[in-house]
Amino acid sequence: MKVEKAVIVAAGLGTRFLPVTKSVPKELLPLGGKPVIHHAVEEAVACGIRSIVIVTSRGKAAIEEYFDVDVGLELALEEKGKTALLEEVRRLSCLADICYVHQQEQLGLGHAVLTAEIAVGQEPFALILPDDLFAQKEMVLKEMLEIFEEKQCSVIASKRVGRDELSRYGVIKPMDASANIYRVVDVVEKPALDEAPSDLAIMGRYVFTPEIFEALRGTSKGVGGEIQLTDALKCLLGKQSVYGYEITGDYYDAGTIPGWIRAMAAFTLKDPVLGDEFEKYLRQLLN
Ligand code: G1P
Repeated sequence: MKVEKAVIVAAGLGTRFLPVTKSVPKELLPLGGKPVIHHAVEEAVACGIRSIVIVTSRGKAAIEEYFDVDVGLELALEEKGKTALLEEVRRLSCLADICYVHQQEQLGLGHAVLTAEIAVGQEPFALILPDDLFAQKEMVLKEMLEIFEEKQCSVIASKRVGRDELSRYGVIKPMDASANIYRVVDVVEKPALDEAPSDLAIMGRYVFTPEIFEALRGTSKGVGGEIQLTDALKCLLGKQSVYGYEITGDYYDAGTIPGWIRAMAAFTLKDPVLGDEFEKYLRQLLN
């Protein structure tokens, strides 16, 4: 089994970004010169995956417009002789083959992933939660896809976090986590501090065998009254081996305002066009 599809979940309400998200999907907030979701699509493409399913919901039409062909804009740029911009806009609309599925009710991450089944079918797929970004960029997913190809089992990204942060994440109980690839024994979503089975937090990159859909169909509401992907993963563990992959580099959570500001600063500093000027400005600010 080879992974040829990626699912990107962009269906959340974005309540942490209100009032901005009343009219702008949080996935379109910029990081460096590009929106968060653009980075996610580029990551999949850099890993050799062109077939992308984006799970959206009400109020997210701007995401579809962002990746769509805009003939009017192209004509206007052509008339004004803005060739470089025109090429950039054209490149964007043929970046990948994107289809959209709509999650009609906000029933949780697990439910959003299950909504993608109709477009994924009985195939393995990569899952990207676009709020989670890594300094190692596409290398994380690339390595996870290699592990999948070798083991033919689902693979979950993880990172060691401080004990006080663990209850924000799904947490993994590893068989033996002395290496950066390990067998997963159990998972628990947002555990109480004294119930976390390790300090390995689940990060938003997964490679799943198609059996995850069956597990999701059998999953009832969990933490927060939502259908949790981690609960389906727990059920999958009873039927198949699942591997964990430990990320060591920096991680950014663009799903909160402070986290997005940090990610924005890190991505802008690394941006080939904006980086130098931004660094100069930061130095001025701090002096
Ligand atoms: C989701 C998952 C959680 C995972 C996290 C990574 O939580 O449910 O297991 O650790 O993403 O960002 P959320 O951030 O949607 O609360």
